[in-house]
Amino acid sequence: MLSEKLEKNIAVFVSGGGTNLQALIDAQERGEIKNGRITYVLASNEKAYAIERAKKAGIECEVVSRKAYAASEAYDAAILAALEHRSIDLIVLAGFLSILGPSVIEKYRNKIINIHPSLIPLFCGDGFYGKKVHTAVLASGMKVTGATAHFVNEITDGGAIILQKAVPIEQGDNEDILQYRVMRQAEWEILPRAVSLFCEGRIRIDGNHTVILGRSENKE
Ligand code: GRF
Repeated sequence: MLSEKLEKNIAVFVSGGGTNLQALIDAQERGEIKNGRITYVLASNEKAYAIERAKKAGIECEVVSRKAYAASEAYDAAILAALEHRSIDLIVLAGFLSILGPSVIEKYRNKIINIHPSLIPLFCGDGFYGKKVHTAVLASGMKVTGATAHFVNEITDGGAIILQKAVPIEQGDNEDILQYRVMRQAEWEILPRAVSLFCEGRIRIDGNHTVILGRSENKE
């Protein structure tokens, strides 16, 4: 008997403009996120434009404000409480600027995917986020950069890599131009694809590597 694959519930965590959330919403509307559905958006600040994007898409959105909690442990507890009764199968960090603590990572081990705007292991880790990444990339003189979709573990940007895509650095690029190219040509493409692969059960994790399985293979 064909095993009925239950559709996975996806929670997307945001902090800013929400262009990666928008890419996920658009992919979902095009039917490109197989066996998964965005059921909840959590914003770490009430001013995030990502909130408007969730509302427009009719997705439940809640602000769990980072600045309302002094200790990071208290913020982690608030996040776990917000997810408690939602049967979330996957958390996607889409421009989410807070670091998740061990209690969240443990509960959702290998069920948290982040998008980072560089080719990990380059230009990543503590302090490398948003435009700061592209400033460092431009200062390095490299001719290519890109984005990485990866699992989240206790090491900032340290989890197993799922997908990466490289983009060229052009003469005259500045941080803004480069950030937009990396988002448009890499982030907005590989994040929805990584989310769909997860929901289809096609990502096998071997230590800090992943193996992407074909449509008919089974990861067990
Ligand atoms: C982007 O730089 C993205 O690379 C990073 O967060 C920033 C804002 O993303 N993940 P978004 O527009 O809020 O999705």
